[in-house]
Amino acid sequence: MSTTTASTGRAMPVRLAGLGSHLPKKVVTNDDLAKTLDTNDEWIRTRTGIRERRVLPADWATSDLAVAAAREALADANMTIDDIDTILVATTTPDHTIPGTAPIVAAKLGTEAGAFDVNAACSGFLYGLRVGSSMVATGDEAILVIGAEALTRIVDPGDRSVAILFGDGAGAAVLVPDETAGLGPFDLGADGRDPSMLWTEAGGTRTPVDESVLSAKTNMLTMRGGDVYRHAVARMTASSKSVIERAGLSVDDIDLFIGHQANIRILEAVGHRLGVPGERTHITVDRHGNTSAASVPLALADARDAGRLQPGDTVLLTAFGAGLTWGSCLLRWQVSESAADRPATNASGGSA
Ligand code: COA
Repeated sequence: MSTTTASTGRAMPVRLAGLGSHLPKKVVTNDDLAKTLDTNDEWIRTRTGIRERRVLPADWATSDLAVAAAREALADANMTIDDIDTILVATTTPDHTIPGTAPIVAAKLGTEAGAFDVNAACSGFLYGLRVGSSMVATGDEAILVIGAEALTRIVDPGDRSVAILFGDGAGAAVLVPDETAGLGPFDLGADGRDPSMLWTEAGGTRTPVDESVLSAKTNMLTMRGGDVYRHAVARMTASSKSVIERAGLSVDDIDLFIGHQANIRILEAVGHRLGVPGERTHITVDRHGNTSAASVPLALADARDAGRLQPGDTVLLTAFGAGLTWGSCLLRWQVSESAADRPATNASGGSA
């Protein structure tokens, strides 16, 4: 088996016409977790960089987060749902095993446009951008790519090894054709030889849920943290280098580095290996925790709202997740038409 990541295309004439995000209002701090778990703020901050995370309301599911982010992205693009040809929802925490979450999101947004899920775990938004860009480059007028997750629903709140890491949220982007723009090149990769590194062991077709699964909680997320950490650093570094080299650029050309927000130490290690200075790395893991497929679009929206993105900037996006999967791309930042009207809010503000 080849151990090099595969190149998956050149930059495509695609523009990100709108960007939206949604974070639930409920904030859970490390001190909150320490009330019921054998952990503490200092351990969590020094090992992960996380200070707090958001948790969705009891009557919400992933699709509700996705819809909220999608509405913001459509408004940002000055579009309505009727302008959208296809909806992609990147998620590893779907509302149901069947059907996919995307058709539910489409119905809530009021469309019968094509809608399907992309499950590449924490790399899902990068995979979604890759698929959505190809659809735009081959004739579609507008594609909505959403990364949405309710991770807190699949972690055992009593398992301190994972309960401290994850949060809920969603981010969304509208992709449109634009001959003057360039989204890519992309690099996508996967290594499924050891899915147990980061998985929910039961609850799928290999081990359906029964009494023994529920009592052992093997339908909840578990991982081998150290192994995941090492692979995350190696894969995101190699994948990022691949897209920078294929674009004919150097690290000095990267204006902002937005990596999957799983752990600040992972982001620092990748940045160090790439040679990206810390001041050109955007961090949200401290406030969001790990929101899996939502983390990259949430961080991108956060960077925009913080005024860190200027027209013409080259942004490096990279992600890594269960599977294992990984993906990277370059994004040339352009201002959407409604940007001038956007209130100066912080992306951390949610409405539910
Ligand atoms: N609070 C306090 N102590 C904890 C703890 C917690 N929440 N979780 C684990 N510990 C303890 C362990 O039991 C262990 O104790 P021991 O030495 O007495 O056995 C000790 O802390 C060290 O545990 P370890 O798992 O080796 O810590 P670590 O330095 O590897 O950090 C992670 C753990 C999870 C923070 C780190 O491995 C990591 O971030 N991995 C990547 C996770 C990730 O990003 N996953 C998603 C990728 S998409």
